[in-house]
Amino acid sequence: MQLIINDKSVEVEDGSAGQMLLWALRDELGLTGTKFGCGAGICGACTVHINGVATRSCVTPLALVAGQEIRTIEGLAEGERLHPVQQAFIDLQVPQCGWCMSGQIMTAAAFLAQNPTPGDDEITQALRYNYCRCGCYVRIHAAVKQAAEEMNEE
Ligand code: FES
Ligand code: FES
Repeated sequence: MQLIINDKSVEVEDGSAGQMLLWALRDELGLTGTKFGCGAGICGACTVHINGVATRSCVTPLALVAGQEIRTIEGLAEGERLHPVQQAFIDLQVPQCGWCMSGQIMTAAAFLAQNPTPGDDEITQALRYNYCRCGCYVRIHAAVKQAAEEMNEE
């Protein structure tokens, strides 16, 4: 099966109907920045973008994403320049263990692309279903807010 991942066309061998995108990314393509958490579409650790929309790859069958634009955390930066959300997460030292972070960042990046001037409540709502077992929610919120401000200054 041909997939378009981070602007490149790639081939994955196991395109069976039951194969989920997460496992093709991690096991076949080595894109391990996308994490496995619950495997049930609940925690958000596996979030990628499909055509710019934040999507949980653990419950997304490969068969549904052939020919779609898939972006993972490895393809979020523009060359050497990190996405403003990535930079803000570094600047504010957001991660603790880091496991949930690519999902948080991918969710926030898709959200800010749709809503570049969010209020605090909108940020809270947008990230409410991305769980962080380390409880970094205050810093995650602050980083998304900072990224929005920086994106609007550019
Ligand atoms: S691993 Fe996909 S939502 Fe938890
Ligand atoms: S930083 Fe550890 S789960 Fe979020």
